[in-house]
Amino acid sequence: MATIIFHEETKTFHLYNEQISYVMCVLENGHLGQLYFGKRIHDKADFSYLVEKAPRPMTSYVFEGDRTFSLEHIRQEYPVYGTTDYRHPAVEILQENGSRISDFQYVEHSIAGGKPGLEGLPATYTEADDEAETLCLILKDPVTGIRLELLYTIFDRDGVIARSARFVNEGTRPVHLLSAMSMSLDLPDCDYVWMQLSGAWARERHIKNRRLEQGIQAIDSRRGNSSHEQNPFLVLKRPGTSETQGEAVGFSLIYSGNFRIQAEVDTHNVTRITAGINPEGFDWKLDTCESFQTPEAVMVYTEHGLNGMSQAYHRLYRSRLARGYWRDRVRPILNNNWEATYFDFTEERLLEIAAKAKECGVELFVLDDGWFGERNSELAGLGDWIANPERLPEGISGLSRKIEALGMKFGLWFEPEMVNKDSDLFREHPDWILQTPDRSVSHGRYQYVLDFSRREVVDRIHEMMRKILSESRISYIKWDMNRSITECYSAALPADRQGEVFHRYILGVYDLYDRLTGEFPEVLFESCASGGGRFDPGMLYYAPQGWASDDSDAIERLKIQYGTSMCYPISSIGSHVSVIPNHQVYRRTPLHTRANVAYFGTFGYELDLNKLTEEEIGQVKEQIAFMKEYRETIQYGTFYRLVSPFEKNETVWMVVSEDQNTALVGWYRVLNGVNMPYSRVKLQGLRPDVIYENEFSHTEHYGDELMNLGLITSDVTSGEIIGDLVPCTDFESRIYVLKAKKG
Ligand code: DGJ
Repeated sequence: MATIIFHEETKTFHLYNEQISYVMCVLENGHLGQLYFGKRIHDKADFSYLVEKAPRPMTSYVFEGDRTFSLEHIRQEYPVYGTTDYRHPAVEILQENGSRISDFQYVEHSIAGGKPGLEGLPATYTEADDEAETLCLILKDPVTGIRLELLYTIFDRDGVIARSARFVNEGTRPVHLLSAMSMSLDLPDCDYVWMQLSGAWARERHIKNRRLEQGIQAIDSRRGNSSHEQNPFLVLKRPGTSETQGEAVGFSLIYSGNFRIQAEVDTHNVTRITAGINPEGFDWKLDTCESFQTPEAVMVYTEHGLNGMSQAYHRLYRSRLARGYWRDRVRPILNNNWEATYFDFTEERLLEIAAKAKECGVELFVLDDGWFGERNSELAGLGDWIANPERLPEGISGLSRKIEALGMKFGLWFEPEMVNKDSDLFREHPDWILQTPDRSVSHGRYQYVLDFSRREVVDRIHEMMRKILSESRISYIKWDMNRSITECYSAALPADRQGEVFHRYILGVYDLYDRLTGEFPEVLFESCASGGGRFDPGMLYYAPQGWASDDSDAIERLKIQYGTSMCYPISSIGSHVSVIPNHQVYRRTPLHTRANVAYFGTFGYELDLNKLTEEEIGQVKEQIAFMKEYRETIQYGTFYRLVSPFEKNETVWMVVSEDQNTALVGWYRVLNGVNMPYSRVKLQGLRPDVIYENEFSHTEHYGDELMNLGLITSDVTSGEIIGDLVPCTDFESRIYVLKAKKG
């Protein structure tokens, strides 16, 4: 049960549930002090001994005549810079007189069940008031009149706290928000390993670890999208924390644009974490009576290792961030034509691919890039969302009817935010792209970014997309975004509002998503940005699944999917079987390994099944039947990482059904060896006293054996071929299906 208690006499707030406590208080100067975030502790009225007040050399003090109260040494909730604290602040406000000092003092608060939405922004939500408690703290800066509302929601389940901030200019003069972070948290020590998810195109969300040290460490994006390079997610884990045990604190930002997550460890070893919109280049003019809402940050504390932390994020993001018709429905198995044809297709060819897919059991055929305008290559067509009659004589409406007549659903690709110069839309509205006056404008993949900060631009794209969606039988949309933003400047905004464009752009993207998901609630949206360039919680609010990476090689995908699962549920990870040699790394992996990796996500095929042999088609049919049998377990089950591809030649993960009666263990080995060591892997999440039948090895074991002795994964076939045993080779994999024995 989530509870928030306010102790009036000490002005102390205690947010707790069964797992965690979060304690803060109003300080002598009216600011908010951070006292504790960690494992649940008893409630008490007075934790004031945690406010560090002591004279120290070279310290500045707030109150005249007092040499104890310095913000430099007091842990805070939403700090400002320049009034005794020299660390990076949560907020910086430029005022008309040039001052950047502000002084947010506690005024009042309210506590209520449930959780309010955030205007214009994706956020976690509740479906009933008893799922969470929300504290709204109101602070005010007496000089500028700016009101600050800090929201804290503690969920009933798991160690989760969601935070955000809202500014309202109740003063008489405009101000500029130069930094407005979603959260700041001062932790009392720095004995942590910092873990981030980093990468590049086709190599997204690789796990990177390093010891937290004095100084500043940060991940950020200044590309307009959350980026392939850094994901808006950070973990601080204790040095001894593993997948299965130990303390970890996660910080996840529900935002798809420029972000920054930073740790500043001061020379007294206090760690300040700030997360929010990247202050670099951000300048939001807040006129009188205007308000500004920050995105939401979600913190998770666990003492149950990285799996414990990830599972808390998975549960929350799968069921209280993702929304709508598809949230709890099994996802269709799809066949996407991109790697099968690229731009080289006709309707006839598409129907051939679709017919074979149908024969194998595929449920959804997705037409990717190239169906519209003059889009015969990357050079033209973006922005003209009208079917190309040469390729599709009866348009999208005709093709979608033909696909449905085959017995499948139809899905379509869009890249709504982009335009090619060679397009009717650009010829009509050359001023609709982001570009800086009198300067050259850069392209990415020959395309330019539409100014989604402008309502008329969003309206026009919306109109084109809505027309196609209303006229055709479309069940799925892949929403792509294939370049980062440059020369970010909007022709529609005055000079003193140009620092708003990046954020207004993302608000425009969210607005279009909101309109379309509202108008077409049964359409399944999959987000994409050159693969995983915008795989973030913001997107998950609108699109319950995302194309995780343009790298579809099974071995590359081990790291990508393993890293992605740190924060994101398996039900959100788009993963497909593609051809060999693979189009990104030219590797040849066995068909079963490609499927064994792709099962742990939203499964599909990224190839022309007509090109496979009869024997392979037989395997594909079995794979699809397998996925249909186990997709509930995969989508709704609990996912555990067991052996990391970042550390070993083998990767192992598993998923356990909600009732713990079924488990699938995915085992993968990159390179084969000869006469390899005896190997076993300790499983997780089973019922100890239940006997599980292992359908791979036809053995039976108690859950406690499998979890404590381990599942034997030694390879009996390497080295020598005995009887009709099939020898293993490189890129080998297996799925062990474990089922609780009845009776
Ligand atoms: C990038 C995506 O990640 C691919 O899957 C594909 O849709 C291409 N864009 C199409 O241009």
